[in-house]
Amino acid sequence: MSDNGVLISAAKQARENAHAPFSNFRVGAALRATSGRIFGGCNVENATYGLTVCAERVAIFKAISEGERGFDAICVVTDTETLTPPCGACRQLIWEFCGDVPVIMANLKGKTEVIQMKDLFPKPFDSSNL
Ligand code: THU
Repeated sequence: MSDNGVLISAAKQARENAHAPFSNFRVGAALRATSGRIFGGCNVENATYGLTVCAERVAIFKAISEGERGFDAICVVTDTETLTPPCGACRQLIWEFCGDVPVIMANLKGKTEVIQMKDLFPKPFDSSNL
């Protein structure tokens, strides 16, 4: 299987654990560290709605909390015809922790698209602005 294929499978598997009783919009993410380890994440909703954490950020926080720092790619999987890009909050964190990585978007039917973070988040605010 290709590197992207492995990441997509991991994101699909993580999506199985999505806790999305309010939106029923189940999302899986997978993040590949430069160490080679892959970290899955799913969206975790709660009754306040606003404290929901997206799949991408769960994957990032898992990896960071395990001591990982450099990352190669991130993948987002949903069961939608139109592929799902990361939300604005996630774009900020993907940029800060992963930089200009490829974002692989995929659905359950095998449709995929890859976009670079610099194209998805062209004028970021980050530590270089401080
Ligand atoms: N969501 C993600 O987990 N990642 C995205 O890229 C888009 C949105 C989640 C948040 C919420 O649980 C549900 O999808 C609907 O917005």
